[in-house]
Amino acid sequence: MKVLVVGGGGREHAVCKKLKESKLVDTLLCAPGNAGIAQVATCVPGVKATDVEAIVKLAKDEKVDFVCVTPDDPLALGCVDALEKEGIPAFGPSAYAAQMESSKIFSKNLMKKYGIPTAESETFEDMDVALAYLDTKEAPIVIKADGLALGKGVIVAQTMDEAKEAVVDMMQGGKFGKSGARVLIEECMFGREVTVLCFCDGKTIVPMRASQDHKRVFDNDQGPNTGGMGAFAPSPLYTKEIAERAMNEIIVPTMNAMNAEGFTFKGVLYVGLMLTEKGPKVVEYNARFGDPETQVVLPLLDSDLMEIMMAVRNQTLSDLNIQWKKEYAACIVLASGGYPGKYEGGKVITGMDKAEAAGATVYHAGTKMADGEFVTAGGRVLGVTALGENLRAAVDSAYAAAKQIHFDGAHMRSDIGSKDC
Ligand code: AMP
Ligand code: GLY
Repeated sequence: MKVLVVGGGGREHAVCKKLKESKLVDTLLCAPGNAGIAQVATCVPGVKATDVEAIVKLAKDEKVDFVCVTPDDPLALGCVDALEKEGIPAFGPSAYAAQMESSKIFSKNLMKKYGIPTAESETFEDMDVALAYLDTKEAPIVIKADGLALGKGVIVAQTMDEAKEAVVDMMQGGKFGKSGARVLIEECMFGREVTVLCFCDGKTIVPMRASQDHKRVFDNDQGPNTGGMGAFAPSPLYTKEIAERAMNEIIVPTMNAMNAEGFTFKGVLYVGLMLTEKGPKVVEYNARFGDPETQVVLPLLDSDLMEIMMAVRNQTLSDLNIQWKKEYAACIVLASGGYPGKYEGGKVITGMDKAEAAGATVYHAGTKMADGEFVTAGGRVLGVTALGENLRAAVDSAYAAAKQIHFDGAHMRSDIGSKDC
């Protein structure tokens, strides 16, 4: 098969590497891809992931047999709908189903209607009403922009002043454009967070290995939120008992609720859980693989990813018996100095060969080639993943490999997994 992957980050590198292992895949294309992905796929840097028309044209011109749409924006823009309309089979939810991620109000309403455990919340379209509501509440409290905001549309306000400022920024200041025109004000939940990525074909939902992300930029969860500074899987917090509760109270009810609302979700449903004193509750859904969670979950997959993606698209997931390796995986993200704020690109990267020689896999998130060398070209630059027979071993190997890599201003957290080893 000739397969096109849409996207160009560390997650897409992990997807491409796994698809490359499939006996079903002969040719792999990636649009736009990056310098690392170019080692396993033919990249098409001129086609942006958000240019749905160009993606469809590329798929047609190249006569691809299957397209995997991984990032949030093209899904929300209807990339899968547009491909399927042209008769090109594609992996990922429709734009309608992708509202599970692209509208926090859409998914919150669904959870409320079907009794799926989540934080109590209210929706506001009018700033003055939102501010008046805040006067009746106490901090900490959570303010969320309705739409996609590059993972930055959530403020966990520690004081009422901070909460009010967030509401004004979003609803008057236009901080997130249209995405902030409507906001959710939400009860603050307390507990540890776990990510459960699930393959879902609308009839069957199969959880992958549970993982844990590290969103803050500095050690001990200090500093601003990022796209994710590291991850590991499986999560020791996601015990059999919690997994069973999550499956019965959240994961299966979510699929049933989507069906009851008259839409079918096909793709990866990302279930972000908070493990509260009262049990697991939903923090958020995403309509896609997580990044960097994918860089620890897919290396543990012992089945053919292409076969799974086709089964999801064809709604035959129940025929498969998906297998997982018994090991643990850890991923350390190397970021540009200054990220998630301003940072410089174009820094020469060395030592990736040594990291791989040490047994790790280096996933490229933001890199490009310049004069025959790999240079930085993004906030998150690389994700270094290693496997081990327990979490400690996986984390230690990932750090040993990551320390072989150098570029000016490189920053990594030094405590990925340390709370749970
Ligand atoms: P989200 O973009 O929805 O994943 O939110 C980003 C982060 O904000 C989450 O990973 C949580 O750490 C935090 N968060 C979101 N909603 C809540 C909530 N209701 N209570 C506490 N923390 C939250
Ligand atoms: N790692 C969080 C996300 O992919 O949204």
